[in-house]
Amino acid sequence: MASKAGRVAVYPGTFDPLTNGHVDIIRRGSVLFDRIVVAILVNPEKSPLFTVEERMEMTKVVFEDQPGVEVDMFQGLLVDYALKQDADVIVRGLRAISDFEYEMEMALMNRRLSPTLETVLMMPAESYTYLSSRLVKEIFALGGSIRGLVPDVVEARLEENANSGQHHRA
Ligand code: PNS
Repeated sequence: MASKAGRVAVYPGTFDPLTNGHVDIIRRGSVLFDRIVVAILVNPEKSPLFTVEERMEMTKVVFEDQPGVEVDMFQGLLVDYALKQDADVIVRGLRAISDFEYEMEMALMNRRLSPTLETVLMMPAESYTYLSSRLVKEIFALGGSIRGLVPDVVEARLEENANSGQHHRA
């Protein structure tokens, strides 16, 4: 069921921070869909490194030349948000077998909640198989290099925050 605006996908996640693995999935998704909406979850329970607004801003910088990529935030049920966006598809990245159970659980639960929405699992480039936001945060916090693991704008912002003594933000 394509919407009038063509095929629309929502790519939801926490993106704290956006990694080059996420960027890879968004680029691949933007080839398949007319619009791909990167939807950042507003999760009051977590204590993120970057605010949702900061995460949106950095993601917009990375995709500023790609009109088919939109960046937004959402709260509540993903399926409700996806339907509001007229989306046909939920995109998620699948790095390794270890992701599979979690992704399968979400995909099937989302299908139960909204049978017309399909979940498409996409594999990133092999070099990003073991890359995660959690590892990026850990490596950075311990003084390791994250060059090539995150977009330049994210690396610069992490360094800025570290230099200003800023760590976790609400
Ligand atoms: O990057 P993450 O943290 O793995 O993303 C998880 C996310 C945001 C996709 C998931 O937590 C989600 O969809 N949350 C919204 C609430 C919801 O719809 N929950 C039911 C999922 S079956």
